[in-house]
Amino acid sequence: MIYQMISSLLHKADPELAHNLAIQFLKNDYLPLQLFQKKFSKKLEINILGKNFKHPVGLAAGFDKNAEIYNSIFKLGFSFAEVGTVTPLPQPGNPKPRVFRLSEDRSIINRLGFPSLGMKEVRSIIEKKTPKGVLGINIGPNKDSSSKIEDYLNCFENFCNLCNYICINISSPNTPNLRDLHEKDKIQELLVSIKNKQKQLHSQTKILLKISPDINDQNISELATILLDQKIDGVVLTNTSIHRSDNLLSSNKVEVGGLSGESLELISNTIIKKFYKILKNQIPIIGVGGVHDGQSALRKIKSGASLLQLYTALVYKGPNIVNKINEELIKLLELEGFESLQDAVGKDCVD
Ligand SMILES: Cc1cc2nc3c(=O)[nH]c(=O)nc-3n(C[C@H](O)[C@H](O)[C@H](O)COP(=O)(O)O)c2cc1C
Repeated sequence: MIYQMISSLLHKADPELAHNLAIQFLKNDYLPLQLFQKKFSKKLEINILGKNFKHPVGLAAGFDKNAEIYNSIFKLGFSFAEVGTVTPLPQPGNPKPRVFRLSEDRSIINRLGFPSLGMKEVRSIIEKKTPKGVLGINIGPNKDSSSKIEDYLNCFENFCNLCNYICINISSPNTPNLRDLHEKDKIQELLVSIKNKQKQLHSQTKILLKISPDINDQNISELATILLDQKIDGVVLTNTSIHRSDNLLSSNKVEVGGLSGESLELISNTIIKKFYKILKNQIPIIGVGGVHDGQSALRKIKSGASLLQLYTALVYKGPNIVNKINEELIKLLELEGFESLQDAVGKDCVD
C-alpha cells in the first residue's frame, strides 16, 4: 500500500528526480526490505563466474551509478548488483532533461552520458560498506579523455580488489565515439591491455565486457573470437539501443539516447542468440534488455543467457520484481519440462 502510493507519486515526477528520490529512500533504509528476501527452489541456482548464484536476477548498471545502495539492492532480493558506470574523474554528464519515460511502451530513453562521482570517491564509498552479495563494477572513460584505454586501466586498477567482477563498458551510446571500441583492432588492444594489467596486479577479479545491440554479424563474429582468444570471463548483452522500432507508441520516442525496456527485448535476444551460437558454454552470457516477468526471463535464458540483469522493469514494476520473476520462472521451467535453469540455457539456439 505504502509502496503503491510512493510509486504513483514517483511516476508523476520527472524521471531523474524520481530516481534520485528512490536512491535516497533506499539509502536511508525506510522500507522493511527483508520482506523482499525469499528463498527459491534450488532449480534456480546457477554456478558461474566462480560463484553460486541463488537465482539469476541481478541489477543492471546505471541504477546505482555511485555505489550508494548496493546492500539495499541485495535486500530487495537481487542475486548480484552491478554499480557504475564509474569514470576515472568526476563528471556531470549531459545537460538535463536526459531521461525520458516511454510509459506506453514500458521503455525508457536516456542520454545521461556517465554522470559520475569519479573512481576515487566511489572507491571510498565502497570501502565503507562491505558488499553483502556479488558486486560488479562497471567502468567507462571520461567524456573528454585523451586516452580511453588509459581510463579503463586506471579504473581497473582502482577497483579490482573491491569487487567480484569488473565490467568494461564500451557500449553506451551517450559518450562520443565510445562504441568505436567495438572495432576489431581497438577492442583487441583494449582487452590485451586489461589482461596485462590484471596479471601485473595479480588480480583474481573476473573481467566482463558489455556490448551494444547495434552491431552486425561481422562485428559479432570478430568480437566473439577476441573474447575467446583473450579468455574473457563473461559478456553482458546488451546495452541500450539507438534504433527505434516502428511499433513504439510514446511521443518520447523522438528523444535522442539509448532505448531500454520491453521494446529492447527482441533486439537484445537476437544478439544473445548469435553470440551463444559461437561462444556455446565457453564464456557465459549475462542477458539484459527488457526482462520484466517470468516469460521474458525464460526467453532470455533460452536465447543463451546464464544470468540476467534488469533496470527498466524495476522502474515500471517496483521492488517486488525479483520475487515475481523468480516465482513465475520456477513454474515455467516445470511447465516446459526443464530440470533446472541451467538445463534451459541456450535451448532456443539448437540448429
Ligand atoms: C537511466 C539508465 C541509465 C543507464 N546507465 C547505464 C550505465 O551507466 N552503464 C551501463 O553499462 N548501462 C547503463 N544503462 C543500461 C542498462 O544497464 C541496461 O543495459 C539497459 O537498460 C537494458 O536493460 P533494461 O531493459 O532491463 O533496462 C542504463 C539504463 C538506463 C535506463
